[in-house]
Amino acid sequence: MNMTNKNVGSLLGQLESLNESQLRRLLVEHLTKQKLGLTWEASAIERDAALNADLVLPRHCAEWSQNPEGGTRNLIIEGDNFDALRLLKATHAGKIRVIYIDPPYNTGNKDWVYNDHYVGANDRWRHSQWLEFLYRRLTLARDLLTPDGVIMVSINDENRARLELLLDEVMPGRRLGSLVWRTKDTGNDLSQRFSHVHEHILVYANAGFKFNGRATDRSKFRNPDEDSRGDWSPQPLTTNKTLFERKNTYYPIQDPETGYWYPCDPDSVWRFASEKEIRSRFPDNERAVQAALAGLRSGTIEQLIENKQIYFPPCKPSDVMEFASRDELLAAVNAGKGPVLPKKKTPLLRQDLPDLDFWVGKPIAPGRPSRKEHWTAKPQEERLAPLSSWIAGLNEDVALFSDDGDEEPVVLRSARGGVATEEVKDVFGTKAFQHPKPLSLIKNLLQQATRPGDIVLDFFAGSGTTGHAVLALNAEDKGQRSFILCSSTEATKKEPAKNLCRDVCAERIRRVIQGYGGKPGLGGEFAYLQLDKVEVPDLPFEADAAHAFQLLALRRFGEARPLPAGPVKRLGQSGDCAVLLCERVDAETIASLVDWRARNGAARLAIYSPRPSTLAEQLAAAGVEANCYSLLDAVMRGQVGGGANE
Ligand SMILES: C[S@@+](CC[C@H](N)C(=O)[O-])C[C@H]1O[C@@H](n2cnc3c(N)ncnc32)[C@H](O)[C@@H]1O
Repeated sequence: MNMTNKNVGSLLGQLESLNESQLRRLLVEHLTKQKLGLTWEASAIERDAALNADLVLPRHCAEWSQNPEGGTRNLIIEGDNFDALRLLKATHAGKIRVIYIDPPYNTGNKDWVYNDHYVGANDRWRHSQWLEFLYRRLTLARDLLTPDGVIMVSINDENRARLELLLDEVMPGRRLGSLVWRTKDTGNDLSQRFSHVHEHILVYANAGFKFNGRATDRSKFRNPDEDSRGDWSPQPLTTNKTLFERKNTYYPIQDPETGYWYPCDPDSVWRFASEKEIRSRFPDNERAVQAALAGLRSGTIEQLIENKQIYFPPCKPSDVMEFASRDELLAAVNAGKGPVLPKKKTPLLRQDLPDLDFWVGKPIAPGRPSRKEHWTAKPQEERLAPLSSWIAGLNEDVALFSDDGDEEPVVLRSARGGVATEEVKDVFGTKAFQHPKPLSLIKNLLQQATRPGDIVLDFFAGSGTTGHAVLALNAEDKGQRSFILCSSTEATKKEPAKNLCRDVCAERIRRVIQGYGGKPGLGGEFAYLQLDKVEVPDLPFEADAAHAFQLLALRRFGEARPLPAGPVKRLGQSGDCAVLLCERVDAETIASLVDWRARNGAARLAIYSPRPSTLAEQLAAAGVEANCYSLLDAVMRGQVGGGANE
């Protein structure tokens, strides 16, 4: 960037206003900045200030929750997701297994409100603002993941490269790959003569993550030849290399029991080396032969045949071909009547092949030999087919070929984007939301990425498709997955009363739970949370017991719970210890605590209160043993500085 005098002057002016520690912070950032990667205009000072500006506290809104009487792990959080993520950092750090997000794509096309206004296509800072907006949120989100957690991010083709570099910065070395899905059947960009009909889902994961894949189909394992090692499945013996690419594994194979021969396919040669072929390459040089054999990654074809690892399909003697002379063989080959591949019918012998004479006078069998893969020889974790990066349409015909003869990959399927708008319309009767994702896309993704007890987070929840998908998946497999959805209200100066989170996201999930349009409800519940922001010095005055109770219930028990009445509020049970919150330390509280253990059958008490030492003293005087913790420290923990020993 070219610095004009005016720019330099204003930069110096800004530096004047910084204190010493802020200047140090800038210098460290400057000196340690990565030299390879993405750069965008951003200020580390503003970033720190945004993080530490205030504290975020949850408020449970019973009125907009579903089944508010009980506790629930399903949360819908209204507000800017930066604040929601700051709260989750204090309550769910290291606990989220799957994050899926579909952020605004920065199209410049009124898809993204930043600082209360839409960021337009000609905004000079459009890309930097978008990257910084996502960077701040992704760095918080990353720390919520379990050690085997994954984050999947939807993005269009135009912004994929920028977002991928950003994710490389947020989760270095954690890129797993990307999935591609087709969004529509018709194109629209006539000016470019290029039709954008696909989007990406970028996948970044912590070390322990794996997609579920698909368990190997046991029914494919049989035992037609009564092998004493049990059931096996036939695996191709060939690679995708041609004779010209890998001539060393082009050789004939003979069944030692029948004496029949099998030609190699010149377009797809054998996978395994042949000792006989190696010896023919190094005549009179045993050392070279042994060195070549020692360098092989698997056994030779001769060893496989000797160990009865190769299956030769039975054939009728009348189907075996034999040619008495080269002319007879050539005539058959040229007339298309020579040996062919059983399914594709492409010729196995051709006039241009180097070994045509070998086949004169040899009995040539029609089938193809295969390698036996025994069921018992494969460890359980390897009996899985991988996930394909290609997401096919619901009725699309996909022909997949697996390398190395392993299981064919699992293909996810998704409806096109337009179907998603209809799905939301189905719930509300009107077009309540622009550009949701198809339910099938998210449901199938989650089926591959989650296990039945996982927490799934979507902090750009929009119309709540991710929550809908979690409920649908649970209904299908009786799973106990839970969701956390964060959505803004999308209120602007023009539409101050708009509340997308309450009226679309939560309302959709409520209708899915209760049933809509004649469809039965899937069941379930959620807590609706709003966020209050409190500056640290004001905490003792502005944070109340309801805030603290919710924060601690979420952190310690992973649930939002309705606030109990009375001076002693039970948060939950941890082993034999009852965890309580007392808003005040007064005679009524002490009186309630004196026989609390006996009344509620708890062996030990842990109590949060605003004055833990006073409470501990007064309880000791009344003969009650309890561990007392500072409520204020507990509320601040995870968001500001250090905290209590909980
Ligand atoms: C592309 S939509 C997500 C659609 C969603 N996947 C669905 O299927 O309905 C992005 C959503 O993110 C919301 N959003 C944008 N900025 C946000 C912010 N800072 N905090 C919370 N939500 C935000 C927008 O209001 C919009 O609803």
